[in-house]
Amino acid sequence: MKQNIVPSLLWLCLVLLLIPGPVMGDNCIDCHTEWEEGPESPSSLFESDIHHRAGLGCSDCHGGDPKLDDMDEVRESKNYRGVPEPKEIPKFCASCHSDPAYMIKYNPALPTDQLDKYKTSTHGRKLLQEGDEKAASCISCHSAHSIESPQIPASNAYPLNLPTTCAKCHSDHEYMAEYGIPVNQFDDYTNSVHGKALLINKDLGAPACNDCHGNHGATPPGITSISAVCGLCHALIADEFSQSPHKNAFDDRGYPECESCHSNHLVEKPSLDWVGTSDSALCMNCHSVDDGTAGLEVADKIHGALVDLNLAYEQADAKITEADLKGMMTTDLQFMLKEVKQAIIKANTAVHAFDSEKVLNVTNPGMEKSELVYQAAIAKVDDYYFRRKGLGVASLIITILAIALYFKLKSIEKRS
Ligand code: HEC
Ligand code: HEC
Ligand code: HEC
Ligand code: HEC
Ligand code: HEC
Ligand code: HEC
Ligand code: HEC
Ligand code: HEC
Ligand code: HEC
Repeated sequence: MKQNIVPSLLWLCLVLLLIPGPVMGDNCIDCHTEWEEGPESPSSLFESDIHHRAGLGCSDCHGGDPKLDDMDEVRESKNYRGVPEPKEIPKFCASCHSDPAYMIKYNPALPTDQLDKYKTSTHGRKLLQEGDEKAASCISCHSAHSIESPQIPASNAYPLNLPTTCAKCHSDHEYMAEYGIPVNQFDDYTNSVHGKALLINKDLGAPACNDCHGNHGATPPGITSISAVCGLCHALIADEFSQSPHKNAFDDRGYPECESCHSNHLVEKPSLDWVGTSDSALCMNCHSVDDGTAGLEVADKIHGALVDLNLAYEQADAKITEADLKGMMTTDLQFMLKEVKQAIIKANTAVHAFDSEKVLNVTNPGMEKSELVYQAAIAKVDDYYFRRKGLGVASLIITILAIALYFKLKSIEKRS
């Protein structure tokens, strides 16, 4: 037994040495913690930084010898890099993050392409090629000393926090004035279906700014690739659109694809009136009766088909509710009604073919189904009245029998 203790202790020491943890005996942190004040100082921010948790210290980024206990000597020590200039920061961070051999030791799944992509972004081109320090660098989105994994709610780059991170610059009129680009992206976005879904309903499936612009390659998607960006999530709709007469017509004329009808940042919940020939219809923005295209004729047919199907759905739904309130079993009908709902969703997708035949191919079966459900619901309601009538007759007969019985008993009593 005793012989085994020594190797076990050695193993324990080895394991303790291998566990990454806060660096021990690191004079950088010790001394900086001592003299720096306030929660915003590098040393106190760094306590919750992912690099700290990974066992890295100040010297891994700033260089210098962490065993020295004098800052002047630190500055003289080898590899001391000091505080990087804004223009140097991307390379500064990339010295590790673009080195797969280094990063694999910590987190093999982490991409190592951030600098490459950043270089292609408007931010990267502005900062690295034009020396414009107002463009976002790595620390604008990740911070310098409280860096977290973007998967964690504490990160500035976490989906729920990211729009505010971008808005710090992009909603600042003064800051952005010299560029002459709009500063309404954040306001529009927060009022959009996407912004509400993400920021209010916390639906992480809804896009934050980076889902459309890329994390590190932030550029406006080109006019002809917007459908691909929206299609990341709305794939079926993007498919219909790309086969529609609008795809080439829009690209040739420089109309931004989905954006022409839905906007980019203020995407709203669509309504039935969007398609058609009324004043509020989108189709009227570009088409007129005498523009020589079938545009408005198609718009009118699609509108009619959508309105009919939605109305048929509502009527069937109302009849089912009526039967339900009367205590009739309606589970089977509700199930069938879901198929009508599916047809509506498919029709809203098919709208993007801008071809009335394709829409009717979906709405016609939907109409048949909803008629079936409606008739079945009427039958249930009728059944209820029939049963109630039956119940009424039955109770009448029982009452008459009871009265007859009563008088019969009375007459027997009198006789005896
Ligand atoms: C004995 C205390 C002490 C130690 C040890 C120390 N620092 Fe400092 N450091 C300071 C002080 C104080 C300043 C503020 C500037 C000054 O007055 O010298 C400073 C400034 C800095 C700065 C700002 C840039 C500059 O050059 O002034 C950086 C970056 C920095 N230290 C990093 C480090 C790193 C990395 C280590 C460890 C390798 C380290 N420090 C070790 C006390 C220390
Ligand atoms: C992940 C890399 C990284 C680590 C680790 C790191 N720093 Fe920094 N540090 C930076 C960057 C980048 C800047 C430049 C910030 C800027 O320009 O706003 C900076 C700036 C500074 C400055 C200048 C003043 C300031 O507040 O911006 C000081 C002082 C400093 N760091 C000290 C430290 C100390 C002390 C530690 C350890 C507790 C540390 N840093 C750890 C990247 C790092
Ligand atoms: C000395 C090497 C080194 C430097 C320099 C460095 N990092 Fe890191 N970084 C790491 C390591 C190691 C991790 C931990 C990976 C892990 O555990 O997931 C990390 C993690 C991260 C993460 C979290 C990744 C994730 O999702 O888990 C971000 C974000 C990050 N670093 C950004 C930066 C930024 C911004 C800079 C420059 C200011 C920087 N890093 C400088 C080594 C470095
Ligand atoms: C305009 C904002 C922005 C800038 C600038 C930026 N990042 Fe990021 N970064 C993000 C976002 C957003 C994510 C989260 C991606 C996700 O959710 O998958 C991210 C993710 C990361 C990750 C985690 C791994 C990954 O690639 O998903 C690392 C590491 C990282 N960034 C490092 C850097 C470095 C290094 C730079 C500078 C060269 C940089 N970032 C510049 C916004 C930015
Ligand atoms: C530190 C400030 C800052 C932050 C933070 C920032 N940006 Fe920028 N961004 C700029 C500046 C400055 C430009 C250059 C504008 C120009 O040249 O038109 C720019 C340009 C852009 C462009 C290109 C605009 C065009 O018309 O070419 C896009 C897209 C963009 N940013 C998206 C984002 C997104 C998305 C985020 C957040 C993930 C973000 N930015 C965070 C400052 C910032
Ligand atoms: C649903 C996708 C989507 C989301 C989410 C999104 N954008 Fe955009 N953004 C676009 C499209 C599309 C364009 C226009 C591209 C074009 O017309 O060439 C654009 C353009 C821009 C531009 C260029 C200037 C302009 O307004 O035309 C900036 C800057 C920008 N977006 C920033 C942001 C910021 C910041 C957020 C988050 C608050 C954000 N975007 C969210 C799709 C999106
Ligand atoms: C990251 C995924 C994603 C991207 C990219 C995306 N969307 Fe969405 N979109 C969603 C989600 C999720 C919803 C549902 C939001 C909700 O709960 O109402 C939605 C809702 C919508 C709606 C409203 C649907 C309805 O019935 O209320 C429209 C219109 C829309 N998106 C258009 C677009 C356009 C146009 C683009 C490109 C500029 C785009 N989306 C990019 C995920 C995305
Ligand atoms: C010519 C105008 C136009 C273009 C271009 C357009 N849409 Fe639509 N979109 C509409 C109309 C009209 C509706 C409403 C249909 C309805 O409510 O019945 C709609 C509805 C939607 C919906 C909601 C569907 C639902 O189930 O309620 C989404 C999501 C959507 N569009 C995304 C996109 C995407 C992604 C693109 C680009 C690939 C795009 N749209 C291009 C006109 C357009
Ligand atoms: C942003 C402008 C724009 C909007 C909005 C728009 N269209 Fe179009 N549409 C066009 C252009 C441009 C053409 C190509 C016309 C040509 O070839 O001369 C076209 C062609 C068509 C065609 C093919 C016509 C033919 O004769 O081959 C149909 C059908 C059509 N649109 C239906 C619609 C419907 C339905 C709507 C409303 C939901 C709509 N469009 C909204 C611009 C638009």
